[in-house]
Amino acid sequence: MRMYDLIKKKRTGQELTTAEINYIIDNYTNDTLPDYQVAAWLMAVCFQGLSPRETADLTMAMATSGEMLDLSALPGPKVDKHSTGGVGDKTTLVLAPLVAAAGVPVAKMSGRSLGHTGGTIDKLASISGFKVSLNQDEFIRQLQNINIAVVAQTGELAPADKKLYALRDATATVDNIPLISSSIMSKKIAAGAESIVLDVKVGNGAFMRNIEDALILARTMVDTGTKIGRHTVALVTGMNQPLGFAVGNALEVVEAIATLKGQGPPDLQALCLELGAWMITLAGVVSNPEQGRIHLKTLLDNGEALKKFKALVTAQGGDAGVIDNPQRLPQAKFKALVPATAKGYVQAILTDEVGLVAMYLGAGRATKEDRIDYAAGLILHKKIGDQVTNGKPLATLYTNSPEKLPLAKERLLKTFTIGNQQVPTEKIIRAVITKDDI
Ligand code: URA
Repeated sequence: MRMYDLIKKKRTGQELTTAEINYIIDNYTNDTLPDYQVAAWLMAVCFQGLSPRETADLTMAMATSGEMLDLSALPGPKVDKHSTGGVGDKTTLVLAPLVAAAGVPVAKMSGRSLGHTGGTIDKLASISGFKVSLNQDEFIRQLQNINIAVVAQTGELAPADKKLYALRDATATVDNIPLISSSIMSKKIAAGAESIVLDVKVGNGAFMRNIEDALILARTMVDTGTKIGRHTVALVTGMNQPLGFAVGNALEVVEAIATLKGQGPPDLQALCLELGAWMITLAGVVSNPEQGRIHLKTLLDNGEALKKFKALVTAQGGDAGVIDNPQRLPQAKFKALVPATAKGYVQAILTDEVGLVAMYLGAGRATKEDRIDYAAGLILHKKIGDQVTNGKPLATLYTNSPEKLPLAKERLLKTFTIGNQQVPTEKIIRAVITKDDI
C-alpha cells in the first residue's frame, strides 16, 4: 500500500477500505508516515468527506491505537458522557456524582482547558490537594470502592487522535464533522465506554455555531457509536450564553456545589438532570428518561449526590471542607463590578468572548504551558431575557492581576447587547438524537 495512492483515492472522492484506513492510522502513530502526506489526506477528507463506514473505521483505528481501558472489573454497564465544550460548563462536577449516586459507575477521563472553553480537570484541580492523576490500579480500586473517579485523560489513550488533532490544528482541518466525530468517539471507546451520552453544544460559545451543523454532528456521532456497537444518544444543548452564572475554575466549583445542594442555576440543573436521565436509562437503572429525571431529582434533594461528590473529593486527596466552606477555595484578591451603561433587556451575549475575558483574567490557558489562576473568572448577574437597569451590575470580575481589570471590564461590557425589546429566555435542551429518531 502507498500513501500517495490513498491520498489520490480520497482526493477523487472514492471510499477507502478498512485496511486502508488502518494503514494510515497505524503508520502515522508509528511515525512511519510523514506529516505532509497525512495533512494532504486530511485536506482531501475535508473536501470529499467520509462515509459512515469510513468514519466508524477511523474511530476504531484511533481507539485501538494505544491502551484500551479495561473496566470489566466493575459490575454493570459503563456509561460515559462527553461535552463538545462550552463556557461555564461545569456539568461533569454535578453529573458524575449524581449518576454515581444512582448506582452507575462513573469512570471519567476529562480534559484541561484550552482556548475560550474550560476543562473539568482544571476546575477539580482548584480544590486544594485534589489529585487529577491516578494509575490504572488506583483508578479501578476507587471505582470499586465509591463508584466514581474523575482523572485527566492520558496520552496513552488514543495516541493517534492526539497526533492527528495536533496536525489538524496546524492545517485548518479541525472543523470537519466526520473528523470531529471520530476524534471524540475514539477517546470514549478507548476509555471503556459501553454506552455514551453526548452533549453537543450549539451557539456562539460552541464549536458548532448553528443548529443545522450541531444536528449533523450529533447524528454522525450517534450513527458512528451505533455502528460500532455502543448505545449512543446525543443531546443538542444551547450555548448562546454561559451555562449557569460562573465562569472560572474555583467559581465554577462553588456553583457546582450549590447545584448539588439543590440551589444551582436552573439551566445547569436542567441540563444535568437530562444528561443524567439518559445515562441511567442506557445503564438500565430506569426504563425511560422521564423516570430518570424524577429519580435523579430525588438524589439531589436527599443529599445523596452531594455525599458522592464529597466521597470523590476525599478519595482523590482533595479538601472536602470546601463543600461546607467554599471560602476554602482559592479567592481572588481583586474584584470589580461591571455596571450596565443602558437600560432594557439582555438580548444577546457574545459567549466565546465572555470565555476569553475570563481567560484573560487568568482562568484559562492560551498555550498548554500557561499557568492558571484558579480564583480568576467572572460571575454574570444577568442573562438573556433579563431586565437591566443603567448602573446596576451585569457581572463581577475576579482576578489576582489587577492591571487587567480596566480592559476586562471594557471587553465584558461589549459582550452584552441590551435593547428595549424583551426577548424570551434561552432554551437549554434543543434536540435529542437517538439511534432511531430525533
Ligand atoms: N474535540 C475533540 O476531542 N476532537 C475534535 O476533533 C474536536 C473537538
